[in-house]
Amino acid sequence: MKFLVTGGAGFIGSAFVRMLLSSAKPSTLINFDKLTYAGNLENLAPVANDKRYRFVHGDICDAKMVNDVIAGEQPDVIVHFAAESHVDRSIHSPEPVFETNLRGTFTLLEAARVHKTPRFLHISTDEVYGSIDPPHDADENYPLRASSPYSASKAGSDLLALSYFVTYRMPVTVTRASNNYGPYQFPEKLIPLMISNAIEDQPLPIYGDGMQVRDWLHVDDHCRAILAVIERGRAGEIYNIGGSRALPNIEVVRKILAALGKPQSLMTTVTDRPGHDRRYALSSEKLMRETGWNAGMPFEKGLAATIDWYRANPAWVAHVKSGEYQSYYQRNYANR
Ligand code: NAD
Ligand code: TYD
Repeated sequence: MKFLVTGGAGFIGSAFVRMLLSSAKPSTLINFDKLTYAGNLENLAPVANDKRYRFVHGDICDAKMVNDVIAGEQPDVIVHFAAESHVDRSIHSPEPVFETNLRGTFTLLEAARVHKTPRFLHISTDEVYGSIDPPHDADENYPLRASSPYSASKAGSDLLALSYFVTYRMPVTVTRASNNYGPYQFPEKLIPLMISNAIEDQPLPIYGDGMQVRDWLHVDDHCRAILAVIERGRAGEIYNIGGSRALPNIEVVRKILAALGKPQSLMTTVTDRPGHDRRYALSSEKLMRETGWNAGMPFEKGLAATIDWYRANPAWVAHVKSGEYQSYYQRNYANR
C-alpha cells in the first residue's frame, strides 16, 4: 500500500510513520508536512533512511502543491493528521487554526476527490463533543458542542469530511481520539510540559482547580487503532478511540512528581483557561466491536516509560524548548 501522511513530523503523525515503517505494510510512505513550530524531523530520525520513506515540505492549504503530490503519487490511502493542535494557542491566535484545520482539510479532500483516492482517514479528537456530562462516556452520536476555536475547527472539518462521503460517495472515515501521551510530544501539552518543568525544578502550572478530567491514550495505542480502522473500519463512519483511563489533571501531575522524586510543592495554581472543558470520557465500544482493537498500555506503565524517554532525551527537549517556545510560554503563563 502507498500511504500519504499529512503532519507526519508532529507527535502522533511521527509515531504512526515510525510504526508503519517498522512493518512491511507500506510500499511507499510520503510525509507531507509544513514543519510549523510543532513539526520536527528529528522525530523521524529512526526511519529517515528507509528507502520507502519520502518527505515533502508543503502546506496543506497550498492547493496546487497538494494536487501535484496526489496526482503524481496516486496514494492508496491518505491519513490526515496535519493540524494546529493546541487549545491554548487557538485561544491566543485562532486564525492559523481555521486556515489549516478547515481550509487545509478542504484542500486535501478536494484533491482526493478529483484524483479518486481510494481511502481517506481524517484524524480528529474527542474535543468536538465539548465537556461530557458524567456519568456518561460519549459515543459517536454524542452531540457536537465544541468550546474552543481548536475544537470548533476540528468539528467543522469532521463534518466537511463526512459530507464528502454523503455527497460524493468518497470513502472517508473519521476517528476521534482522546488525549494522547508518549515520547516526542511537544511540551505545550499537559504531560510533557509537566515532566520537563519538573525535571528542571520549574513551577508546574495547574489551570483552575485541576479537577478537569481527561481520558489518557498512549500514542502507540492510538496508532494501532488508526491502522485497525484503515484495515477493518467502514467508509462514512466515525470511530472514537479512548484510553479508558479518565483522570483529573491534578492526579496525573501528582503521579509525575512522585515518579520523578520531586516535591508536590512545585505545583502552582494559575488562572483557568477560558471555556475550559470539565470532562472528556469516550466510549470506544464501536471500534472494539468492529475491529477487535483494545487499548493495551496501562496508564502507569505508559507514563513511566514516557518520563524515562524525556529524561533520556535532554537534547531533544532543549531544542524544542528554545526559540519560539519561550515567547509562547511567556504569552500563555506570564501574569496568569
Ligand atoms: P502536532 O501539533 O504535534 O503536529 C502537527 C503536525 O502538523 C506538525 O508536524 C506540523 O508541522 C503539521 N502541520 C501543521 N499545519 C500544517 C499545514 N498547514 N500543512 C502541513 N502540515 C502542517 O499534533 P498532534 O498532537 O500530533 O496531532 C495530530 C492530529 O491528531 C491532529 O489532527 C489533532 O487534532 C489530532 N489529535 C491530537 C490529540 C492529542 O492529544 N495530541 C488527540 C486527539 C486527536
Ligand atoms: P492539554 O494537554 O492542553 O490538552 P487539551 O486541552 O486538548 O485536553 O491540556 C490537558 C489538560 O491539562 C486540560 O484540562 C488543561 C490542563 N492544563 C493545565 O492544567 N496546565 C497546563 O499548563 C496545560 C498545558 C494544560
